[in-house]
Amino acid sequence: MSKITLSLLVVLMIAFQATSQDLPTDYLPADFHKDRRDAVREKLPPNTAVVLFANAERNRANDVDYVYHQDPNFYYLTGYKEPNAVLVIFSEEQTDASGNTFDEIFYVQERNARAEQWTGKRLGVEGVKGQLGFEMVFNGSEFENFPLDFTSFDNVSFVDFHNDYRDKSGSADLFDLIKTFKVKANYPSDYNPVRNNLYKSISTVTAENSEEVAQTIERYLNRFPELQDDEILNDFVNATNEEIRDEIKNKVLVIQRSSNLDSSILPKVMAELRQDKTPEEMELLKKAVEISAVGQIEVMKAMHPNMSETEIQGVHEYVYKRYGAEYEGYPSIVGGGHNGCILHYIENNKTKVGDDLVLMDLGAEYHGYTADVTRTIPANGKFSPEQKAIYDIVYNAQEAGIAASVVGASFRDPHKASYDVVAKGLMDLGIIQEEKEARKYFPHGTSHYLGLDVHDPGTYQAFKPNQVITVEPGIYIPADSDCDEKWWGIAVRIEDDILITENGPVNLSGMAPRKAEEIEEVMKQPSPLDSFQLPKLD
Ligand code: GLY
Ligand code: MN
Ligand code: MN
Repeated sequence: MSKITLSLLVVLMIAFQATSQDLPTDYLPADFHKDRRDAVREKLPPNTAVVLFANAERNRANDVDYVYHQDPNFYYLTGYKEPNAVLVIFSEEQTDASGNTFDEIFYVQERNARAEQWTGKRLGVEGVKGQLGFEMVFNGSEFENFPLDFTSFDNVSFVDFHNDYRDKSGSADLFDLIKTFKVKANYPSDYNPVRNNLYKSISTVTAENSEEVAQTIERYLNRFPELQDDEILNDFVNATNEEIRDEIKNKVLVIQRSSNLDSSILPKVMAELRQDKTPEEMELLKKAVEISAVGQIEVMKAMHPNMSETEIQGVHEYVYKRYGAEYEGYPSIVGGGHNGCILHYIENNKTKVGDDLVLMDLGAEYHGYTADVTRTIPANGKFSPEQKAIYDIVYNAQEAGIAASVVGASFRDPHKASYDVVAKGLMDLGIIQEEKEARKYFPHGTSHYLGLDVHDPGTYQAFKPNQVITVEPGIYIPADSDCDEKWWGIAVRIEDDILITENGPVNLSGMAPRKAEEIEEVMKQPSPLDSFQLPKLD
């Protein structure tokens, strides 16, 4: 090798190293995703094919799309962050005409230099093989002609489509992939996943649970008008004895034999898997939560009555970006005074928070995993007596809720514990007279799972180690409430992210102060933003 070629190679190697060092190195490894696909396979009934599509691209206006975000199930199983892809997982090994065996196939976006110049690099087939560790990978355009006979499976399980994705000019976009799937799988035009799931519960009904199944179906009939004319569901609800229900069950079994489509297996399997966090997931989730807690601390220091809600939001989100969090896990909620009474308030357009409490419910998303942390603080640095009275009830309710978040407890236990404290506290203050009235001022649940989704899927069974939940009681007293008007406009939520362990609950967001007195102390500290002055604009 000549001297010049060698030095060019060295320069290129250094340049490559510098580039790769400039990228995050702590993404979930390919092995993680492979392991999760194996875990899905283990939970599938025999002779089942699972078909999972990438999230749709959404148009914002004209030629601008919303920032693309992968479907969390799809990301969990693949690590692929691009649109227009479909993953097929088989419960057993398949053999193709040439004798090759495989148990999954991945169709991905084709590389395209012109498109990549505008919208960024694509992994393509080779990138997916090399970086994500798949073996059987094709361009999406090959899905249509690939000899894959979905009719030969007992179950073809998928998450039903929302029909709100567009056909783009390119071939093998999501629209085309789904169209191909529908043809290959004999998808009927009137397929209804809810009906499909209800029929499934009828097909396995027993004398012991038939009354319960009938009640569930009745609830669904009230919720979904499109099912109200379904003869089988109505007959089952109105059946007066077990014999009639058995007859209906037999009818359903015949109908089911004519189709192998299923929309119940996959959500259940994903909920069972995703609710238990692996060590790799815990690292990312902890990081997202810690980043969000630091955001709360920095805002406590920076807060003053002249700040606007959107500026407060900006400070949180700036902290997230400083730590490399790519997104917010959900639209940031920053509500001053009365705005805090709107549970998912995201307008954030009040120009001055004044002397009110500010409810701030935000979560950084770090490499896919999102936090969900709420602090409520007095904009002027000191709780008024009324604000503090309500705040302390919520604080004590949260303490009780966290204490109830232990292995083996029912998912409802933190809520029960929090609700009791809120009800008693509001009665002591004369805001309500009876326990059941507390629902008016505490109108939401206390806990949900947390992970790739802010409301992560899970089975809502008894707690197990390595699950992460929120504990988030709140009291919201809107104007014109039926109580002394000195309470009106006070809204408090305190929300932390709790890891369930054999040794009791661990508060992952505990770094951000929660006690009223501690918040007041932190608010006295200077902020680097105190001296950050911007020029006045005309
Ligand atoms: N940030 C949404 C929630 O607390 O559930
Ligand atoms: Mn939450
Ligand atoms: Mn929240």
